[in-house]
Amino acid sequence: MSVTVRVPAKVNVQLAVGAARPDGFHDLANVFLAVGLHDEVTVTPADELRVTCAGPDAGQVPLDRTNLAARAALALAGRRGIEPAVHLHIAKDIPVAGGMAGGSADGAGALLACDTLWGTNASREELLEICAELGSDVPFSLVGGAALGTGRGEKLRVLDVGGTFHWVFAMAGRGLSTPAVFREFDRLTEGLDVPEPVASQELIDALAKGDADALAAAVSNDLQPAALSLFPELADTLAAGRTAGALAALVSGSGPTTAFLTRDPQAAAKVAAALTASGTCRTVRTASGPAAGATVVAGS
Ligand code: C5P
Repeated sequence: MSVTVRVPAKVNVQLAVGAARPDGFHDLANVFLAVGLHDEVTVTPADELRVTCAGPDAGQVPLDRTNLAARAALALAGRRGIEPAVHLHIAKDIPVAGGMAGGSADGAGALLACDTLWGTNASREELLEICAELGSDVPFSLVGGAALGTGRGEKLRVLDVGGTFHWVFAMAGRGLSTPAVFREFDRLTEGLDVPEPVASQELIDALAKGDADALAAAVSNDLQPAALSLFPELADTLAAGRTAGALAALVSGSGPTTAFLTRDPQAAAKVAAALTASGTCRTVRTASGPAAGATVVAGS
């Protein structure tokens, strides 16, 4: 008996970051869009909790109890007083430490998979509460589509999306640590008056209309200067995508994956080919959004 859950990656079309809070987190206005790059988490009964991972970046994934998939199984089992005796296998296609919520996807996927396998029947509300305990981006991985995240990003308001957006993603040769990027944001904004993060109405309207040009004009990422400061070569990747005709080029979340919005699949293929030829990144992928949130795809 096993259950498999498919979970999407995300790109942040807006990431407005406020000043550091007393707890070290930052208040955000974080507009997430789920895109069609996926991890799959399969849970099978086992003697004890075990995590395995397959995929091109599998070697970089921790297999101990720091893995968000393991932490999700432990959290649900702890709440129900049951043994988390499962094998969690992650088929990983989302870049690791890339700013596309790959770890968060595995947490949300493992939670839904364990709830289904164990028949624990957690309500949507309880699943979202556990996700928020696991990490700021984990609730969105469960929900998918598009949403505005406030607080530290975990309080979600679902957003309408009136069309399909075509993206190209350039994966970098190394990862960036999210806490390190936020620390660099703090360093770069030290002594400055950091405004309260506010969601852009133009951006929300562009999503609702499915208007790629309007979305391109409205995208923004306050973590981009910090990511570029720690990883200056990303500027070359952004420039290569812009030159190839991308409507918008930005760092995805805390990076270092860079995201390029294009008008249609043909333009995406052209930008992808130019980025590959540029030699400024490790791998290039195309994907469209919105994509569905965590979904049970197989159970036996
Ligand atoms: O919530 P999560 O565990 O994904 O956050 C990882 C790290 O990113 C935090 O420890 C913190 O350094 C930073 N972070 C932040 N403000 C947020 C979300 C994350 O400073 N809103």
